Amino acid sequence: MIVVQSIAECRSQCDRLGPLALVPTMGALHRGHLRLIELAKEHARHVAVSIFVNPTQFGPRDDLTKYPRPLGKDLQMCREAGADLVFNPTVAEMYPDGAGGIVFDLPQLSRVLEGEFRPGHFAGVCQIVAKLFNIVRPASACFGEKDYQQLRILTRMVEELNWPIEIVPCPTVRDADGLALSSRNQYLSAEERQRALAISRGLFAAREEFTGGVRQAERLVATVRNALSALPIDYVAVVDAMTLQNVQKIERPAVIAVAARVGSTRLIDNVILRS
Ligand code: PAF
Repeated sequence: MIVVQSIAECRSQCDRLGPLALVPTMGALHRGHLRLIELAKEHARHVAVSIFVNPTQFGPRDDLTKYPRPLGKDLQMCREAGADLVFNPTVAEMYPDGAGGIVFDLPQLSRVLEGEFRPGHFAGVCQIVAKLFNIVRPASACFGEKDYQQLRILTRMVEELNWPIEIVPCPTVRDADGLALSSRNQYLSAEERQRALAISRGLFAAREEFTGGVRQAERLVATVRNALSALPIDYVAVVDAMTLQNVQKIERPAVIAVAARVGSTRLIDNVILRS
């Protein structure tokens, strides 16, 4: 496995490897990322993983400085998972003139849900992913459905910009008890982790109601809110899977999306509803 830090070196190694699938990450890898790497291997002969904690997607209240950076362990996991190349640039390499620069805006998709609570977050995500796409020039790129809004926005960005890159969605990977895997789970104490299970329980209960025929978004939201009654909630919403706009009656694929706080950790999760 090749590890590169400079853009020039990354470009030349990617050219040498040929068609690639890219797994963009911020490190602190877990089984969810390993699943992304596996999926990437099904889509291309070679797999590149980027590990970069992107400052432009963190807001002033976010956890940029305390975001975990276990690089040695991450590289080991990439190696064992069969990645061919890891791109691990510095902030100065990616943003030599500071973090300003180009701003991507897909307002309809990015101002709702997370966008209301983390203004500018998706502009930062689009900025870094666009840069990574231009450096690595992958044939495909894999993103988890756990960050459903991010996946939807990046898919739209690629369509809008006519990039010849296939965006490959990967179903959310969960622990046996239902908790969606996230690098942020490591901030949870054992007791907080137990409380966090209310999120997936609520979502699964609502999905069962949907499977049982319930189509009123209000009822599904009430079920999730009920399960989360002990947690401060940022939002529980039923949105159209393509437009991310709120729906009242589910007639097309939809997503129940949740953001809630467990102690000082903010967690997001979702389930996708398809009849
Ligand atoms: O999902 C993430 O880990 C990040 O938002 C991403 C896509 C790697 C961009 O920094």
